[in-house]
Order: sequence, then structure tokens, then C-alpha cells
Amino acid sequence: MSECRVLTNLKGLLSPDPRAAWAVDRIPDAALALEGGRVLWMGRRTDLPAAFAGAPTLDGGGAWACPGFVDPHTHLLFGGDRSGEFNRRLHGVPYAQVAAEGGGIRETVRATRLATVDQLVADGEARLRTLRDRGVVHLEAKTGYGLELEAEARLLEAYGRLRAAGWSLDITLLPAHDIPAEFGGDAEGYAALVADEWLPELVRRQPGVARYADVFVETGVFSVAQGRRIFEAGQRLGLQPRVHADELSWTGGAELAAELGAASADHLMFCSEQGMRAMAAARVRPVLLPATTLFLGMRDWAPARAMIGAGCEVALASDFNPGSSPCLDPLLVLRLGCLQLRMTFEEAFTALTLHAARSLGREDLGHLHPGAKADILLWDLGDPLELVYWVGEAFRPRFVRA
Ligand code: NIG
Ligand code: FE
Repeated sequence: MSECRVLTNLKGLLSPDPRAAWAVDRIPDAALALEGGRVLWMGRRTDLPAAFAGAPTLDGGGAWACPGFVDPHTHLLFGGDRSGEFNRRLHGVPYAQVAAEGGGIRETVRATRLATVDQLVADGEARLRTLRDRGVVHLEAKTGYGLELEAEARLLEAYGRLRAAGWSLDITLLPAHDIPAEFGGDAEGYAALVADEWLPELVRRQPGVARYADVFVETGVFSVAQGRRIFEAGQRLGLQPRVHADELSWTGGAELAAELGAASADHLMFCSEQGMRAMAAARVRPVLLPATTLFLGMRDWAPARAMIGAGCEVALASDFNPGSSPCLDPLLVLRLGCLQLRMTFEEAFTALTLHAARSLGREDLGHLHPGAKADILLWDLGDPLELVYWVGEAFRPRFVRA
């Protein structure tokens, strides 16, 4: 019991209840007993068990304690930026036209192929620090701007170095993010190469670094059949599928994710009702990315209410990337979840904590029940709802050093 500390002087505690899909504990005048970086107990201060009564205290300063945010979909590492393309879009040129003219993802691929591992790591660290200062304690991050074996390997190496430096992240291989220009539109040939040669080679070079494989299943990019081939190759290597699904049009990505038992299906602005039911039955978590819908100026927000109604455990994420979501702001994601996806505050909060963590197989993140990692944020607010209500405020959390 020597290292045990009691976090007290809290205005309250807000945490999803991991025993239920959408229940949130809201405990005024709360306390938490922490030991070895884990939560041992949480509840009302006046109910603190006698065993913890003599432990040294940590002063919460009258704040609200919440679990750290988890961001389960980012494209953290890339070279360059796409501000020029953004300005063209503001002048009325559609995203699809920019891409068809050789810009879009391909512009970032050109810049990423020129970046060294050291540059990628330095940029990644700066972005990770920004996310952490805003309350993100764990995230998923994808390759996918290399689109050639050596450049994808450099991205994977950079992610491995970031993880070795102590950043908490899960890594996804996404060489099938687009068809590289040099393949002249041969999606079939490129998908075969990724499935049969690149995924095995990337895993052979850096065993245990990547946990997931992803494919951009979309009209004009990779078909469901090509996606299935790549995902099944990944599964044979121990990589669980996460699917870029039904983002710009209905393509059957949600149905594919359910068929494969994927960890997640992501985007889903054009998901079918059958896809929602299939995801709920297969316990595939939809990961919704409203900052992308905002930044692309689209009218079709993902149907979060229908998904929740169908029994899906919806998660929220940033989709941080240079083209469709240059957004490192978890509060913007939370706010869009409420204001555009029409989730309640409690639902959006659960989606960016508990369900986000579960889509990454992390049972010890996204809540503050006993056994959870003590990644606790302290918000100096009268009520956590203010995180959304004061819609333009750049609130920053304080952190508990357990
Ligand atoms: O998640 N959909 C594919 N990939 C990204 C966009 C990538 C880009 O424009 O650079 C996304 O939205
Ligand atoms: Fe994405």
C-alpha cells in the first residue's frame, strides 16, 4: 500500500461505466485511489474505504476528473502540407477534381517519399505533444503516404521509434491508401502486390510493430473484393482489419468489415442500414470522423443516431491528415459529435473515450473504474458539459501524476 495515493478535492468525476455501452458515472465530490499508475478505487470521497484513509493525497484543485481521450483514427505521419490545395477548394475546385489532377493524396505521397525517418519522427513528436496537451493519451496511427515499399517501411520505422520513445500508439499498415501514380490506375495489380508481397515484407522487417491493416475501400479506389484480399492477407499475418468504409459513396465497406470481424469500420457517411445492422451483429465498432465531413464541406454527416439505434458502439476520432482533416483538436471532434452527429454530450464523451479505446482492444483506457490506467485529465470547469457548450474555447486539461 506504500505507493498508494488518493486523488481528492475534486468537484466531481465523469467516467463511462465499462460494464454498459452508454452509461456514464457522474460522481460529485469524488475521490480516486491510485497505485502503480492504475485506479484501485473510485467513488464519493465520503465513501473512501478505510484501507486508503491514511494514504498520501494528491490535490485535484477543485477540478473535474475525466479519463484521457483516445483517438482511434489518425494519419499522424506525412511530409509537407496541402494548404495550396485547400485554397483551390475555397475557390470552388472539388476535392475529387484536385485528386484527379494528380494532387490530393498523391501530392502528400510525393512529399512523404522525400522525407527522412528523422524528419518524420520530429514532425510526429511535435504533433503528439500537441495532442497530449489537449488531452489525448492514446491513439491509432497509419502509414499510407509512402505507397512504395521503402517509403512505407520508413513510415513504419518512424512509428516504431515514436513508440520506443514512450508514446502510446497502435500502428496500422495502409499501403492501400490510394493507387500510386506509377501503377496507371491498375488497382487490381497494386492490391495483389500489397497483399502478397508488401504486407508480409513489412511485418518481416519490423515484427510486432503494426497491429492493424487498413484499405481505402471506395468507388474508384479499391473495390470490396480487392479490400477483402488485402485484409485476409493481413489477418494471416496477425493484423486485424480497420476499414476506410463508405466515406464518399456507398461501397459496401461496412458490410465487408462485418464479414471480416474487423476491429472497426471508419468514416461511414454513406453507410447502409444493412451495414449498420451487420456491424452491430458482428460487434464491429463504427469510428466516425466528423472533422473530415466539416473540412470537406460535405452535407452528409455519418448517421450516428441510426447506428446507436441499431446497437452499434460508436467511437469518434480526428482522422488527422493533411488533406481532409488537418485537425489535432479532440474538443472539435467532441463538439461536432454533439452538434452535427446529434449525439448527447454523454454519448460523444463515451465515443471519444471508452468506445475509442475498445476499438483498439484497450480495456484499461477510456474509463476510470478499478483496473483502468490512471491517465486522468483534470478540467477546471464548473461542469464537463462546458467542454462543448463554450464552443470556441481552447480548454486545456491538467494531468495527474499518479
Ligand atoms: O481518411 N480517405 C482516405 N484518406 C484520408 C484522406 C487523405 C488525404 O486527403 O490525404 C481520409 O479522409
Ligand atoms: Fe482516414
